Amino acid sequence: MLTLTINQQDYQFDNLDPRTTLLDVCRQHLQITGPKKGCDHGQCGACTMLVNGRRINSCLTLAVMHDGNEITTIEGIGMPDSLSELQQAFKDHDAFQCGYCTPGQICSATALITEIKEQWPSYVTTDLQQPDGLLVQEIAERMSGNICRCSAYPNIIRAIQQVLENQVSDQTSEPFSMTTSPSTSTVSGIWSPPPSETQLGNQSSNNKAANTDNAIRSRS
Ligand code: FES
Ligand code: FES
Repeated sequence: MLTLTINQQDYQFDNLDPRTTLLDVCRQHLQITGPKKGCDHGQCGACTMLVNGRRINSCLTLAVMHDGNEITTIEGIGMPDSLSELQQAFKDHDAFQCGYCTPGQICSATALITEIKEQWPSYVTTDLQQPDGLLVQEIAERMSGNICRCSAYPNIIRAIQQVLENQVSDQTSEPFSMTTSPSTSTVSGIWSPPPSETQLGNQSSNNKAANTDNAIRSRS
Protein backbone atom coordinates (compact mmCIF):
# COMPACT_ATOMS: atom_id res chain seq x y z
CA MET A 1 0.00 0.00 0.00
CA LEU A 2 1.21 3.48 -0.89
CA THR A 3 0.62 6.36 1.53
CA LEU A 4 1.03 9.96 0.46
CA THR A 5 0.52 12.89 2.77
CA ILE A 6 -0.64 15.75 0.60
CA ASN A 7 -1.42 19.12 2.14
CA GLN A 8 -1.48 17.46 5.56
CA GLN A 9 -4.04 14.87 4.55
CA ASP A 10 -3.20 11.18 4.20
CA TYR A 11 -4.16 9.30 1.07
CA GLN A 12 -3.74 5.57 0.63
CA PHE A 13 -3.59 3.67 -2.62
CA ASP A 14 -3.93 -0.09 -2.95
CA ASN A 15 -3.57 -0.67 -6.64
CA LEU A 16 -2.01 2.39 -8.14
CA ASP A 17 -0.32 1.76 -11.45
CA PRO A 18 3.38 2.13 -10.55
CA ARG A 19 3.91 4.16 -13.71
CA THR A 20 1.68 6.98 -12.39
CA THR A 21 3.46 10.26 -11.83
CA LEU A 22 2.96 12.29 -8.69
CA LEU A 23 1.39 15.01 -10.83
CA ASP A 24 -1.18 12.62 -12.29
CA VAL A 25 -2.02 11.23 -8.85
CA CYS A 26 -2.83 14.75 -7.70
CA ARG A 27 -4.67 15.92 -10.76
CA GLN A 28 -6.35 12.76 -12.04
CA HIS A 29 -6.89 10.67 -8.91
CA LEU A 30 -7.39 13.29 -6.21
CA GLN A 31 -8.63 16.29 -8.18
CA ILE A 32 -5.93 18.46 -6.65
CA THR A 33 -5.60 20.60 -9.73
CA GLY A 34 -3.45 23.48 -8.52
CA PRO A 35 -0.29 21.90 -9.97
CA LYS A 36 -0.50 22.26 -13.73
CA LYS A 37 0.65 19.98 -16.54
CA GLY A 38 2.44 22.28 -18.93
CA CYS A 39 5.04 20.25 -20.78
CA ASP A 40 5.03 16.91 -18.91
CA HIS A 41 8.76 16.82 -19.65
CA GLY A 42 10.43 18.72 -16.80
CA GLN A 43 10.89 21.82 -18.90
CA CYS A 44 8.37 24.39 -17.65
CA GLY A 45 7.99 24.06 -13.87
CA ALA A 46 4.19 24.43 -13.96
CA CYS A 47 3.89 21.16 -12.00
CA THR A 48 6.24 22.22 -9.20
CA MET A 49 5.30 21.08 -5.73
CA LEU A 50 7.19 20.58 -2.49
CA VAL A 51 8.25 17.13 -1.30
CA ASN A 52 9.53 17.19 2.25
CA GLY A 53 10.04 20.92 1.76
CA ARG A 54 12.07 20.68 -1.43
CA ARG A 55 10.74 21.74 -4.79
CA ILE A 56 10.35 19.09 -7.44
CA ASN A 57 8.91 18.73 -10.92
CA SER A 58 6.04 16.39 -10.13
CA CYS A 59 5.66 15.36 -13.78
CA LEU A 60 9.06 13.70 -13.61
CA THR A 61 8.65 11.62 -10.49
CA LEU A 62 6.62 8.51 -9.84
CA ALA A 63 4.15 8.57 -6.98
CA VAL A 64 5.41 5.22 -5.67
CA MET A 65 8.77 6.87 -4.98
CA HIS A 66 7.16 9.08 -2.34
CA ASP A 67 5.63 6.63 0.09
CA GLY A 68 5.36 8.42 3.43
CA ASN A 69 6.55 11.77 2.07
CA GLU A 70 5.03 15.11 2.98
CA ILE A 71 3.82 16.76 -0.20
CA THR A 72 2.64 20.34 -0.51
CA THR A 73 0.87 21.77 -3.52
CA ILE A 74 -0.28 25.34 -4.02
CA GLU A 75 -3.50 24.44 -2.19
CA GLY A 76 -1.41 23.63 0.90
CA ILE A 77 0.50 26.90 0.71
CA GLY A 78 -2.59 29.06 0.88
CA MET A 79 -6.15 29.41 -0.28
CA PRO A 80 -8.00 32.59 -1.27
CA ASP A 81 -9.05 33.31 2.31
CA SER A 82 -5.66 32.40 3.79
CA LEU A 83 -2.99 33.59 1.37
CA SER A 84 0.63 33.10 2.26
CA GLU A 85 2.82 36.18 2.37
CA LEU A 86 4.23 35.25 -1.03
CA GLN A 87 0.82 34.75 -2.59
CA GLN A 88 -0.22 38.16 -1.30
CA ALA A 89 2.96 39.62 -2.77
CA PHE A 90 2.10 38.08 -6.16
CA LYS A 91 -1.25 39.89 -5.94
CA ASP A 92 0.34 43.13 -4.80
CA HIS A 93 2.78 43.14 -7.69
CA ASP A 94 0.48 41.83 -10.41
CA ALA A 95 2.88 38.95 -10.85
CA PHE A 96 0.67 36.83 -13.06
CA GLN A 97 -1.38 37.27 -16.19
CA CYS A 98 -3.00 34.03 -17.31
CA GLY A 99 -1.96 32.43 -14.04
CA TYR A 100 -1.21 29.03 -15.52
CA CYS A 101 2.37 29.00 -14.31
CA THR A 102 1.58 30.76 -11.03
CA PRO A 103 1.04 27.71 -8.77
CA GLY A 104 4.41 26.34 -9.83
CA GLN A 105 6.07 29.75 -9.54
CA ILE A 106 4.79 30.19 -5.99
CA CYS A 107 5.73 26.66 -4.90
CA SER A 108 9.17 27.16 -6.38
CA ALA A 109 9.65 30.60 -4.82
CA THR A 110 8.45 29.30 -1.45
CA ALA A 111 11.31 26.79 -1.51
CA LEU A 112 13.68 29.43 -2.88
CA ILE A 113 13.07 31.62 0.16
CA THR A 114 13.91 28.73 2.46
CA GLU A 115 17.05 27.93 0.45
CA ILE A 116 18.21 31.54 0.69
CA LYS A 117 17.55 31.62 4.43
CA GLU A 118 19.66 28.48 4.75
CA GLN A 119 22.37 30.10 2.61
CA TRP A 120 22.39 27.51 -0.11
CA PRO A 121 24.58 28.65 -3.00
CA SER A 122 23.32 28.72 -6.57
CA TYR A 123 25.05 28.41 -9.94
CA VAL A 124 25.75 32.16 -10.01
CA THR A 125 26.92 32.49 -6.42
CA THR A 126 30.38 33.99 -6.31
CA ASP A 127 31.05 33.58 -2.59
CA LEU A 128 30.13 30.04 -1.62
CA GLN A 129 30.62 30.79 2.06
CA GLN A 130 28.25 33.76 2.05
CA PRO A 131 25.87 33.54 -0.89
CA ASP A 132 23.98 36.79 -1.44
CA GLY A 133 20.60 35.32 -2.30
CA LEU A 134 19.08 38.80 -2.41
CA LEU A 135 20.71 39.70 -5.70
CA VAL A 136 18.27 39.72 -8.57
CA GLN A 137 20.70 37.54 -10.52
CA GLU A 138 20.37 34.97 -7.77
CA ILE A 139 16.59 35.13 -7.80
CA ALA A 140 16.49 34.80 -11.59
CA GLU A 141 18.86 31.85 -11.56
CA ARG A 142 17.02 30.09 -8.76
CA MET A 143 13.69 30.59 -10.56
CA SER A 144 14.99 29.62 -13.98
CA GLY A 145 13.23 26.24 -13.88
CA ASN A 146 9.86 27.96 -14.02
CA ILE A 147 8.72 29.42 -17.31
CA CYS A 148 5.98 32.03 -17.63
CA ARG A 149 4.52 32.08 -21.09
CA CYS A 150 3.15 35.58 -20.68
CA SER A 151 6.43 36.95 -19.40
CA ALA A 152 5.41 38.28 -16.01
CA TYR A 153 9.01 37.85 -14.88
CA PRO A 154 9.76 41.40 -13.68
CA ASN A 155 6.76 41.40 -11.39
CA ILE A 156 7.39 37.86 -10.19
CA ILE A 157 10.86 38.97 -9.17
CA ARG A 158 9.41 41.98 -7.38
CA ALA A 159 6.99 39.78 -5.46
CA ILE A 160 9.77 37.47 -4.35
CA GLN A 161 11.92 40.48 -3.47
CA GLN A 162 9.21 41.84 -1.22
CA VAL A 163 9.06 38.65 0.82
CA LEU A 164 12.83 38.33 0.93
CA GLU A 165 13.08 41.92 2.11
CA ASN A 166 10.67 41.15 4.94
CA GLN A 167 11.91 37.72 5.91
CA VAL A 168 15.61 37.66 5.15
CA SER A 169 16.44 41.18 6.27
CA ASP A 170 14.50 40.44 9.49
CA GLN A 171 16.67 37.39 9.92
CA THR A 172 19.94 39.26 9.40
CA SER A 173 18.75 42.50 11.05
CA GLU A 174 20.71 44.32 8.37
CA PRO A 175 19.04 46.66 5.87
CA PHE A 176 19.69 46.15 2.16
CA SER A 177 22.49 48.17 0.68
CA MET A 178 22.14 49.83 -2.72
CA THR A 179 24.57 47.35 -4.23
CA THR A 180 22.71 44.26 -3.07
CA SER A 181 19.11 45.33 -3.30
CA PRO A 182 17.38 43.44 -6.10
CA SER A 183 15.28 46.52 -6.81
CA THR A 184 18.34 48.26 -8.21
CA SER A 185 19.39 45.37 -10.44
CA THR A 186 18.50 44.43 -13.97
CA VAL A 187 15.14 42.76 -14.46
CA SER A 188 14.53 41.76 -18.05
CA GLY A 189 11.40 40.45 -19.70
CA ILE A 190 12.56 36.88 -19.24
CA TRP A 191 14.68 35.12 -16.67
CA SER A 192 17.70 36.54 -18.39
CA PRO A 193 20.80 34.39 -18.51
CA PRO A 194 22.60 35.35 -15.33
CA PRO A 195 25.23 38.00 -16.09
CA SER A 196 28.84 37.01 -15.81
CA GLU A 197 30.97 38.27 -12.95
CA THR A 198 32.56 40.73 -15.38
CA GLN A 199 29.19 42.11 -16.38
CA LEU A 200 28.15 42.42 -12.76
CA GLY A 201 31.34 44.29 -11.97
CA ASN A 202 30.92 46.68 -14.87
CA GLN A 203 27.30 47.61 -14.36
CA SER A 204 26.74 50.74 -12.34
CA SER A 205 23.79 51.01 -10.03
CA ASN A 206 22.42 53.75 -12.24
CA ASN A 207 22.44 51.56 -15.31
CA LYS A 208 20.79 48.77 -13.39
CA ALA A 209 18.03 51.05 -12.15
CA ALA A 210 17.50 52.41 -15.67
CA ASN A 211 17.28 48.91 -17.09
CA THR A 212 14.71 47.98 -14.46
CA ASP A 213 12.55 50.96 -15.36
CA ASN A 214 12.82 50.15 -19.05
CA ALA A 215 11.88 46.53 -18.49
CA ILE A 216 8.82 47.52 -16.51
CA ARG A 217 7.79 50.16 -19.01
CA SER A 218 8.17 47.75 -21.91
CA ARG A 219 5.76 45.34 -20.26
CA SER A 220 3.00 47.86 -19.68
S1 FES B 1 4.70 19.92 -16.53
FE1 FES B 1 6.33 19.37 -15.24
S2 FES B 1 7.97 20.64 -15.83
FE2 FES B 1 6.39 21.10 -17.23
S1 FES C 1 1.11 34.02 -15.84
FE1 FES C 1 0.69 33.08 -17.73
S2 FES C 1 2.20 31.57 -18.00
FE2 FES C 1 2.77 32.68 -16.27
